[in-house]
Amino acid sequence: MKCVVFGAGTMGCGIAEVLIRSGLEVQLVDRSTQLVEAGLGKLKASLDRATSKGKITAEEAASCLTRLQTDSLEVETADLVIEAVVEDMAVKKELLAPLSVRFPEALLASNTSSLSLTEMAAACHRPERVLGLHFFNPPPVMELLEVVTAEQTDQSTLQKALQLAKDWGKTPIVVKDMPGFASSRLGIILGMEAIRMLESGVASARDIDRAMELGYRHPMGPLKLTDLVGLDVRLAIAEHLTKEIGPQFTPPPLLRRLVRAGRLGKKTGHGFYRWEGNEAHE
Ligand code: NAI
Repeated sequence: MKCVVFGAGTMGCGIAEVLIRSGLEVQLVDRSTQLVEAGLGKLKASLDRATSKGKITAEEAASCLTRLQTDSLEVETADLVIEAVVEDMAVKKELLAPLSVRFPEALLASNTSSLSLTEMAAACHRPERVLGLHFFNPPPVMELLEVVTAEQTDQSTLQKALQLAKDWGKTPIVVKDMPGFASSRLGIILGMEAIRMLESGVASARDIDRAMELGYRHPMGPLKLTDLVGLDVRLAIAEHLTKEIGPQFTPPPLLRRLVRAGRLGKKTGHGFYRWEGNEAHE
């Protein structure tokens, strides 16, 4: 099975890693070869971490890389397409529509956190093979896979996706195509409220996070999680959910200010915390 992952950012690299670690052949594509190269660097660093933690052997890591193609932006064949490009419906449709014509048998999946799979499928040829495969960050570590069915998704597509989830060692949940699905809809409410609390001086970022970590046994507080996801990504999701569901998702002004200032979280080294590698400092 030949897989193509579009977007060599935070999620695309992680998804490509999950797939090559399960034995699949993967082509990683972005808007330029430089972006793919940068993604390859991140992917290699992640494989190194998995090796040093004893999760895979050095031989396995090396063999994973032989299944990864990063030297071309041209896609020749595809049995499975997973898009992990920016959270923008127009960009996703523009990408998927021509691919659906070129590869009429391929399973077409989006890693969107909130956008409508039904709308994406409607832009595609043979829309019954479109669905959401929503991975969590970082994909090689997180066990959950949210499988989102569009109105058009047929049973055989869903069954194929559930089998893939199993092959990848993930636990799937099947969710209808409603804005924010099951995960983002709850996670964003918590994240936005935590930012509002920080803005109004209820407590420090560290202490708001500790409230959830120690009081509610969340493995990570909502502000640190927002840093990990990317403030720009969470802002885009919150805006979409405000439009689709209601004002309870309205992004706080502080989030907009930080995004405007380029404080996007771990990926830029600064969000609610300052980041040194995997270490967050207040
Ligand atoms: P990112 O900003 O790290 O990466 C996006 C990548 O897509 C960039 O490298 C960009 O150059 C590339 N790109 C843009 N247009 C493209 C095109 N037409 N063809 C190929 N590549 C293109 O974003 P991130 O965080 O990886 O998010 C990607 C998707 O995954 C979004 O839909 C997001 O909502 C979703 N997601 C993000 C999670 C997170 O924790 N960051 C978690 C789960 C889903």
